[in-house]
Amino acid sequence: MNKMSWPYTAGAFPTICRTEGLYLYDDANRAILDAAGGAVVTNVGHGRQRVANALGRAAETTSYVVPPFVTPSRQALVDTLAADWLSPTLTRAHFTSGGTEANEAAMKLALQYQQGIGEVQRTKLIGRSISYHGTTLATAAISGHPSRKRGLEQALPSYLSVPAPYPLRAPIGVNSVSLGQYYVDQMRDVILAEGPRTIAGFIAEPITGSSGGAIVPPDDYWPKVRALCDEFGLILILDEVMTGFGRTGTTFGYQHWPIEPDILVSGKGLAGGYAPLGGVFTNERVGAVIQESGFQVMFNTFGAHPAACAAAVEVLNILKEEGLVAEAAQKGAYLHAQLHAAFDEHPHVAEVRGRGLLAAIEVVADRSDLTQFDPELGMTSAIVNEGLERGVFYYAGGTGVVRDVVCLGPAFIVTTDQIDEMVSTLVASVDAAIAKLP
Ligand SMILES: Cc1ncc(COP(=O)(O)O)c(C=O)c1O
Repeated sequence: MNKMSWPYTAGAFPTICRTEGLYLYDDANRAILDAAGGAVVTNVGHGRQRVANALGRAAETTSYVVPPFVTPSRQALVDTLAADWLSPTLTRAHFTSGGTEANEAAMKLALQYQQGIGEVQRTKLIGRSISYHGTTLATAAISGHPSRKRGLEQALPSYLSVPAPYPLRAPIGVNSVSLGQYYVDQMRDVILAEGPRTIAGFIAEPITGSSGGAIVPPDDYWPKVRALCDEFGLILILDEVMTGFGRTGTTFGYQHWPIEPDILVSGKGLAGGYAPLGGVFTNERVGAVIQESGFQVMFNTFGAHPAACAAAVEVLNILKEEGLVAEAAQKGAYLHAQLHAAFDEHPHVAEVRGRGLLAAIEVVADRSDLTQFDPELGMTSAIVNEGLERGVFYYAGGTGVVRDVVCLGPAFIVTTDQIDEMVSTLVASVDAAIAKLP
């Protein structure tokens, strides 16, 4: 069995036999409250019979077709997205089997678009210093996630990188009025140094996911980045794999600011964890150029899988019918209020951050000067393990310079009682992990 659980340590994780609402039940029928929705995925909660029925129906009627063929479930998904979810500027949809493939496709679309308009020198892409976009060589390479690149560094293709906003530790101070401008200026410097007409596009998460732990940029950041992309002809790709479909209290995370992407990438919450599915949505400008250029947008064999599309339609309809995006905003406000009440004076918590039902705390050795714990101590894993022992699952975050981050991202049906339990157990878990330090 040891080899069968590779690459994970046998016995290190529970065996989950049943899931319902916000709870996972292990092989001893012990309930675990899922404060993270898995990997911040299960937006409508577990055990939705109508999603299971839709999956079953699709498997019975159209188990599989090659992705270029249309199925009723895929058509229904496109119609639902256009009617209720996507900005009218996003007119083209391409479906993959998950977030990584969707980001990789988005990166390729940005490159193909530039080739299509004759900007043949534009072969570079920019990512950010704290980010995560996926597991393939290209998406890992453009990610600012050192721990997920270990052992690959010498082989990864090179991409440009600009500093991601990280207000807590901003060299010019968290309260600087020009903090957004500070990060935008650094991006401008990179573009100018490389030559604007060598760069095809920029990819970023509107609110940084687990790599940074729910880092919200200064308010002027995104409008200025959008303007910079327009000024220099860069395609703006927003990776909303984690933040999309309501997670941060708006339909998409970027909607906290007055901007629109050229390419929007989704995954995770699109099918709520009931099926593997990613979506890449482009504006007409990008889509039309690629189509007219005759460039192939190659499908993944399981892209737009009929059952996954059917599940996504039901998940999106549940979100709409139950008003769960507004619920994510309201419950998110409650979650943040409780986290602030619990941790604002805590000597080992530097910050509570996030938006809506995407939240994180950053744990430090000393709150007064933000000194971090030695990475060898593995504080994040220690806290997550303490949580699991107490029956609550949190999602480990942080990488490289950002560490000891614990993320929360529960399903939008979370109750205030469950939030209270998540927060009080997090306090106990942080305190227990610190108390056990050598
Ligand atoms: C922001 C972001 N982008 C991309 C991905 C990769 O998606 P997937 O794991 O579905 O391939 C993730 C997964 O955690 C993510 O959080």
